[in-house]
Amino acid sequence: MTGILIVYASRDGHTRQICERMRQRLEADDVSMRLVPIDQAKDLDPSAFDAVAVGGSVVYGKHDPRLGRFIEDEADHFRQTPLAFFSVNLIARKAEKRSIEGNVYVRKFLDNLSVEPAHVEIIAGHLDYPSYGFFDRIMIQLTMKFTEGPTDRNTVIDYTDYEQVDRFADRLRDMARESADDR
Ligand SMILES: Cc1cc2nc3c(=O)[nH]c(=O)nc-3n(C[C@H](O)[C@H](O)[C@H](O)COP(=O)(O)O)c2cc1C
Repeated sequence: MTGILIVYASRDGHTRQICERMRQRLEADDVSMRLVPIDQAKDLDPSAFDAVAVGGSVVYGKHDPRLGRFIEDEADHFRQTPLAFFSVNLIARKAEKRSIEGNVYVRKFLDNLSVEPAHVEIIAGHLDYPSYGFFDRIMIQLTMKFTEGPTDRNTVIDYTDYEQVDRFADRLRDMARESADDR
């Protein structure tokens, strides 16, 4: 088996941490995986892998546009190699925002793609007011106020459900195995 490629965009490192957790899970299962930040993804060939996951965090309502460009540039490969998309954001701390229908950021991202991912995973992110600059903190406090989340400027909460992350890694493993069997 050739393995799994994960391409990610992370502003402050939380998405990278989630990806590292997936790496541990996959490698414990003897599945080889390559983890590549989006700024180093230019010369990758997705067809050299059995499954590919592309994802990143939401910053001011948007995923890193390079993620969409990567998928579109490699769209022909994704008609053969199974693709999963994953999104990390704070509104996903609420269960109803962890579905495509419930998460406006993910819906908008997928609407702009010509390829339909075989799987989409929406993961709650990390809130860390003390690490934000003044402007970012005010904006996130406002978002939290509207969505009934914590606004205290000392709050640090990791909303990520790491069991969900493990299940996602297992799902990728299964996608890769099925795809390898079909070749
Ligand atoms: C400047 C900034 C803007 C953000 N904007 C949003 C947003 O619009 N909606 C949301 O749900 N989460 C938003 N978040 C939360 C991030 O998606 C979340 O903290 C995520 O865990 C960050 O992951 P990263 O460190 O990999 O970038 C924002 C975070 C920051 C720092």
